[in-house]
Amino acid sequence: LVRAAQTPPLRPVDVIDADPVALDDPEQKFLAAIVLALREQNTDNAIAHALAHLTAHPKNPALLNLIGALYLQKQDDRSAEKYLIQASRIAPQDPKIINNLACVALLRRSYKLAATQLAAWSRKHAPGFAEYYYNMALAAFEQDDHQAAETYIDLADGLEHLVDTAVLRVLNSYKQFGAEAAEAVATQMLERFPNAVILYFYRGGMRTMGQPSRTKILEAILDISHAIRLEPQNRYFALAYTFFVKNIGFEDYNADQAGILGQVITMPGVDLVMLANPWQTLFVKSPGWRDVFDQIETLDLEAANAAIYTLKADGHLTAPFVLNGLRTMPLRFAHCEKLLALFRQAYLNRTLAAPETIDDADRAFMAALGCLCHTNEYAFYVSADETSALEQTMAQFKSKPRDLTMLLVLNMYEPLTNLLNEAAIGDWRDQPLLTQAIRQQIDEPAQERALMPTIPTLTPINDDVSKMVEAMYMENPYPAWKSVNHSGNTDHLFLDPDRNRRIQVLIAGCGTGHHAISTALMYRNLQIMAIDLSKRSLAYAKRKTEEIGLSNIEYAQADILELGSLKQRFDVIESVGVLHHLADPLKGLDVLLGLLKSRGLFRLGLYSETARAAMVAARQAVADMGYASTPEGIRQFRHDVLNNPTTHPAAKIILSGDFYGISVCRDLVFHVQETRYSLPQISEILRTRGLAFRGFSLDHGPMEDFRKMYPGGQDDHNLDAWHKFEQNNPDTFANMYQFWAQKIT
Ligand SMILES: C[S@@+](CC[C@H](N)C(=O)[O-])C[C@H]1O[C@@H](n2cnc3c(N)ncnc32)[C@H](O)[C@@H]1O
Repeated sequence: LVRAAQTPPLRPVDVIDADPVALDDPEQKFLAAIVLALREQNTDNAIAHALAHLTAHPKNPALLNLIGALYLQKQDDRSAEKYLIQASRIAPQDPKIINNLACVALLRRSYKLAATQLAAWSRKHAPGFAEYYYNMALAAFEQDDHQAAETYIDLADGLEHLVDTAVLRVLNSYKQFGAEAAEAVATQMLERFPNAVILYFYRGGMRTMGQPSRTKILEAILDISHAIRLEPQNRYFALAYTFFVKNIGFEDYNADQAGILGQVITMPGVDLVMLANPWQTLFVKSPGWRDVFDQIETLDLEAANAAIYTLKADGHLTAPFVLNGLRTMPLRFAHCEKLLALFRQAYLNRTLAAPETIDDADRAFMAALGCLCHTNEYAFYVSADETSALEQTMAQFKSKPRDLTMLLVLNMYEPLTNLLNEAAIGDWRDQPLLTQAIRQQIDEPAQERALMPTIPTLTPINDDVSKMVEAMYMENPYPAWKSVNHSGNTDHLFLDPDRNRRIQVLIAGCGTGHHAISTALMYRNLQIMAIDLSKRSLAYAKRKTEEIGLSNIEYAQADILELGSLKQRFDVIESVGVLHHLADPLKGLDVLLGLLKSRGLFRLGLYSETARAAMVAARQAVADMGYASTPEGIRQFRHDVLNNPTTHPAAKIILSGDFYGISVCRDLVFHVQETRYSLPQISEILRTRGLAFRGFSLDHGPMEDFRKMYPGGQDDHNLDAWHKFEQNNPDTFANMYQFWAQKIT
């Protein structure tokens, strides 16, 4: 939010619209190049032009200030300060330079210092520009002096209407008077700036604060949809949309929302798992599909086959919204699974009995469904009829290895690695329907195999349970994730005043890297070490890390129990969903605590006995009924549960998203080792280890419910109060107890 004041003002119209190459005057050429770079939002380019110009004009304070301001935009406080200090030596009274130096302090979150710098100067001179008051307002806002902030906001507005000031007014009003008042202010500000997309974003945000009604959430979705329509490439908007819709089911099909959702799921930096629920609620109501889902309870193979023809004739089978979703989304609805498994079987039978009836539209659909089957690791049940049809198809494919239809059908049951040898893969590389499958099923696993030997081993694995757990996650790396939320910009983690020190983080039991990568994407000043038992999981993590372009995560194989030998100490240790898989979780906890610096932060994720009740029943059923912990055993278990959704002892787990894939289901109820906890136990564990509880990572909803029972915020860190709350709301920690603690010894 820091608002730098730039000089020279980049205004002259002839310069703004000029092509820098065509200009003769070096001064104009320079300005035009800068304007162009800024318009393209390429700050690095703008800085490069400005630095090149500086060699000819090393003592020009306006130019030095401009460079400082550009570095502020990049949040590079050190470089900004360097140039601004040079500028201020030459022109000590220049108000814009002083303003920008205060911005350096704002960026360092030294709000008092920033306010003092600005105030000292304004006692001598009347500030004549809005940025000055804006920054004063920001400093006051950040120090929770919201009345003063409002006064400065009014002063800034009196000089110039800036959109940033309008945004700050909305946020300040939220802090002072709550979300409803802030929403009204946002509406007012939108009258002043009808084209300021960012205000739709903030108004949407205000509408989802607290415990919003469904109507409010839908209004927020409309706001953010409007912003996305105006700026389709803006990742913040796509992310906000994702957070607004993630818990909402659409009651009816809405073409507009299908369009926006379809656009958002193609954006990089969006965690598609979060969109699975809204996508499926639209899918089951979408044109054509709604009629099929209306008969889902009684639908059989013949009716499914007929439905394919009808959907195809009306163009619904291959609607982009449908195909994009199947290609990218994990499936999480029992009804969708039933329908798509029947469609898969119908295509298998037709490939054998009437291959001439299968056309390009069918093949496009099968290719997309093949991707979905790969996403869930072929979790759909395969009946005896299908097995024999598959054997026949396989035999035919061997004699007709260029038959695309057969390959697509088989690929809905097995990965390409099982179907094609290396030479044959090359023959299919130019087939667009197989591009995604070849990337995900052939190329990416090959990259992971190549990466595995590059991962160092830090400790031996001696413990028997660790060995079993390693074997399990070598077979099924968890989770097989595809995407992670990130805005493309990283923030700075402020743990201590030295902003430029690298914060040392240990992710213990990092699995396939989703956790380590999302942490690295959040903060730019971290150095992360991520360890796990499973080299296959680590190789997956390393491939994704390289794909995203991160360089501050180091992966290594290690057993937490053996990590005591490590010399390094950490500011932050995170271990989520890991320690409860150790034979003695507290032994692991103590090893990790030995690696945490004094005052260091610990983030833990442990199973809740209360919230896991349904999973405990399911685990018992798995043990009693003797399901094997293999893909076949898991498929059989899932089939039995889905076919007996009211009577199977594990039936409740149909509601868990993790039921819908092989490795996630294995982790959910087939795990070789798990321990569960209650909050009084956790409280005792923390107390005896000199750890202070610092709060749960929880969604807004349960947090607000808790504050209804315990108003005022003073019980937010009181585990007795949380225990009582959990007894009344047993599903609160369905996603584990995830909390922060701090080492106070
Ligand atoms: C359920 S996964 C969670 C992965 C990751 N933390 C996440 O939340 O996505 C548990 C992971 O802990 C790892 N793990 C279990 N026991 C471990 C141990 N003793 N040392 C290191 N890693 C361990 C497993 O290999 C597995 O990858």
